[in-house]
Amino acid sequence: MKVSIIGGGGLVGSCAGFALQATGAASEIALLDVNKDLALGQALDLMHGGPSTSDQVISSGGYEHISDSDVICITAGLRRKPEESRLDLINRNTELFLSILAEVAKAKPKSSAVVLVVSNPVDVLTYLAAERLGLPTAQVLGLGTQLDTIRFRSLLALHLGTPPKQTSALILGEHGDSMVPIWSGATVAGLPLDKYPNWSHQIGTQIFERTKKSGAEMLKTKGGAGFAVGVAIADVIDSVILDKNLILPVSSVLRGEVYGLRDVALSVPTKVGHGGRKAMLEIDLWPKELQGLKASERSLKETLALVKK
Ligand code: 2OP
Repeated sequence: MKVSIIGGGGLVGSCAGFALQATGAASEIALLDVNKDLALGQALDLMHGGPSTSDQVISSGGYEHISDSDVICITAGLRRKPEESRLDLINRNTELFLSILAEVAKAKPKSSAVVLVVSNPVDVLTYLAAERLGLPTAQVLGLGTQLDTIRFRSLLALHLGTPPKQTSALILGEHGDSMVPIWSGATVAGLPLDKYPNWSHQIGTQIFERTKKSGAEMLKTKGGAGFAVGVAIADVIDSVILDKNLILPVSSVLRGEVYGLRDVALSVPTKVGHGGRKAMLEIDLWPKELQGLKASERSLKETLALVKK
């Protein structure tokens, strides 16, 4: 299956391309960018590594790649300043994002294409993409809190000295200041996290706060995230193209299906496979966690109202 990455010349898009090359699931990876030389350079650099990674077509160019793409990943957009929230980006990024959506629509994507929005504020832009592209809602996903979730797990593992892949904890809601840690399901090797040696609620709070600020930490230290957001993108895209049915915290437009959340896009547990969102799971949460999701919904609706004016 073919994956096109709009913004593929940039840090996030090229890291996503490298992560997809490492998993080898896509048959073609096309890097699209307004800076065509940069996209060409990134594609050539990836292609040079092909003999030691996977037998894929690595290409670059413009919207001519859209019509035969199975997955269209949109990473293009301006970066926020460290002191800005992702929602602060809304005025600067919305216009650019809407112009990208118009170009995608004009390029006539397949009726079966899945769109994955990464550009920020990702939940608001996911909602706009679902509204504007004319694709079924289930086929328009946002990276949502998948990146926050793997950051969270990595920082918990760092503190506890546990294997990151055996350290499980989930973040739902907004990919932003109102994201929600789901402590009720956190485990290490299948055992309750809150029973783990040297664990305390205070430590948990500190780790969650650092997770929430990790995007800003990346901006301050290296100009923005690349590797982790790239693998988070590959997690979602591989689940789509391989029909893996992974249950991932990705963003999509909700109409009351779960937790009473409606007319907003945010991250809930979502089964991801061919066609994008195959199901959403409404697993019991602690009251505080449910309140957190409602707060995310309110915050995102306020911003959406501004954009829709
Ligand atoms: C981040 O959290 C890019 O929003 C992304 O780093």
